[in-house]
Amino acid sequence: MTKKRVAVLISGRGSNMVALIEAAQGKDYPAEIALVLSNRPDAAGLARARDAGIATAVVDHYRFGDDREAFERALDDELRKYRIELICLAGFMRLLTSWFIRRWRGRILNIHPALLPQFKGLHTHRRALDAGVKQHGATVHFVVEETDAGPIVLQQSVPVLESDTEETLAARVLEIEHRIYPEALRLVAEGRAKFAGARDEAPAR
Ligand code: GAR
Repeated sequence: MTKKRVAVLISGRGSNMVALIEAAQGKDYPAEIALVLSNRPDAAGLARARDAGIATAVVDHYRFGDDREAFERALDDELRKYRIELICLAGFMRLLTSWFIRRWRGRILNIHPALLPQFKGLHTHRRALDAGVKQHGATVHFVVEETDAGPIVLQQSVPVLESDTEETLAARVLEIEHRIYPEALRLVAEGRAKFAGARDEAPAR
């Protein structure tokens, strides 16, 4: 079995990244984490990746000012350098342009801390509490041009309790995230979950 080469893109603490790294250490897991890439040099997850012996890279978006495409070309260069086949966004807090998304069409996964299509965007836990929903959760989906949309690979719900605060609810959802992201990546790496219309070939080099 050749393992798919995966890059995990982060901006912060990287707990989902750790869950993916740990899953990928399994002998039968169909993907290897070949690169952890951050847009922030101070992301705590970078040290955690290095400790796990994973190659890391930083493409600092500040260096590119308003030129989002130049930032993404630099990102794309790193991904090619490491011969990446699949990208997992894991708390990567930059919106990607359609140039990048088209280039990696069907090869980018994202985890979102809500049951999409509910609560797209930020502050999902606070908004779930404000809305009074009884179920909340997390979703892994393929990335398309529209933010927090795109075909769902896996999602799982958790109950919302009367006593919940934003923090307790976030912690319950995060546990689910750490479970479903490795499982969703497995499905995609094994070709059991597919993006309809995905090109079969690797991105042009
Ligand atoms: C996670 O809860 C993830 O779902 C969320 O950021 C957190 C990152 O935590 N992502 C988004 O909100 C994307 N819009 P982590 O760095 O510990 O994985």
